[in-house]
Amino acid sequence: MSDQKYLFERGPWPQPAPQAPDAAPPAVLHLPCKERSDWSLHVGFRYIRQSLTELPEAMLWAAMHAGLEEVDDGEFAVILTDGIIGKFLCPTLNEYDETVFAKYLRDPEAKAPDERWFKSDFTPMEFIKSEPQGDSATAATVILWRRTPGDRGRYSVVAIAVDDVVFDPRSPRESWELAKYFALQGAGVCTTLLMHPLLHFPSDAINAITKTLLPVGHPLQKLLLPHFYLQLGVDDAVLHNGGTVLKQAPFRFYAPYPGAFSEHTKIVDSLWTGSNTRSGQPNSAFPRYVFPLDGWKYHCPYSEFLREYFETLLRFTTEFARVVLGGPKEQLAVVRQWARHIALWIPGFPGEDAIAEGDNLARALASVIHDVAVGHSADHYLYSRVNQRKVPFILHSSLPTGDGDALDRRTLVTWWDNVRYRMCMKMFFNPSPVTRLMDVDYGFDDSALQQAARSFRTDLLDAPNRIAKKGLLEYIPLREMAAGVQF
Ligand SMILES: [Fe+2]
Repeated sequence: MSDQKYLFERGPWPQPAPQAPDAAPPAVLHLPCKERSDWSLHVGFRYIRQSLTELPEAMLWAAMHAGLEEVDDGEFAVILTDGIIGKFLCPTLNEYDETVFAKYLRDPEAKAPDERWFKSDFTPMEFIKSEPQGDSATAATVILWRRTPGDRGRYSVVAIAVDDVVFDPRSPRESWELAKYFALQGAGVCTTLLMHPLLHFPSDAINAITKTLLPVGHPLQKLLLPHFYLQLGVDDAVLHNGGTVLKQAPFRFYAPYPGAFSEHTKIVDSLWTGSNTRSGQPNSAFPRYVFPLDGWKYHCPYSEFLREYFETLLRFTTEFARVVLGGPKEQLAVVRQWARHIALWIPGFPGEDAIAEGDNLARALASVIHDVAVGHSADHYLYSRVNQRKVPFILHSSLPTGDGDALDRRTLVTWWDNVRYRMCMKMFFNPSPVTRLMDVDYGFDDSALQQAARSFRTDLLDAPNRIAKKGLLEYIPLREMAAGVQF
């Protein structure tokens, strides 16, 4: 037996997801008691406290704020292109998009030479086929945008396809307003069930392998442990706990989604498998998951904000990788084993040879830490500020037809819809950091790594200044960033 010490006697490990082994990210199901007790202490008890203390306020608020609010075309563009939902902006149109939007794309006066077409695609909403909310509906929507150049680009809405029927601002007013609400519904559901979960579930395998394979004291484990605290418990609760937010049940006052549990998990799983357009072709907006060795990139200013933190992390992990790859052979051998096991589960992750080549180790580490700390916290911070009465999850309406559509904002959502969404906001979307990125103490033994950590902290504290100098919005203050997926 090795004289190395390990964190757990029966460590967590990835496995094929039981309900969808070919279609879902690898699952980590068997959590050590310590992981579960930490989750109960810092997350589970918070849910109980909020359920007891905040539900009356949510009920009162919903009574005083009935229905939905109006969203004009300018605000519609801001909500969908500047902030978390801007991640959906996609410059590659598919054959389906070129067909449904043909009349706009071929109009020679519709677009100046230096403008570009983009789409925001919420087609995965078609996985919701049931109508458990009575008279409610969902639709697969695709928005066609025109991007005007200058000042980081501005998007203006050209048209919206709602289950293949296209509307534009010249459509009857009620039809156009309904088309926008169905697009906003798709945006809210797909942001919280697909785009944001990209930052949760694929890294569970890396989390588990780091905790189980690396011996206690290994610098790679010291680097990652602060960023992997609570994540396995949080993700297990969302996907596998009977009381999950993804499943409706009578009196489940925090479950706001429009479909059945199996339909919601299909949307989640498409982050891993990718998904198709309405005409059955691979959708450019939703490719199969590949580990983002260079971080995620989006077509919105939020992406530039995130990139500043990625580069900050990369400077740190580059120094970390230089020290570790140049260190004792036994230490490097363990890093290679770590990469070998991760690459078996995570497509695109550098394997045991590639991990020591070029800057692969530095980029892999920067990408993982950026996802779970910066990107995850920023997403929650931004979504918690989304006006739920402008980005609904449920719509009590039939789909617009363009002919004789009726619109009554007071009845598009019910009091109970608004209560559930507000409680979901409070319990799950509002950031509740337990440990903060700026406070992380890695506890390195090696003096070169200690120096690297000190330099990183200085660099990190200066990141908001660099962001301000670039004229970017501070999408989340540094002090609000958790060290990992803790909520
Ligand atoms: Fe999250």
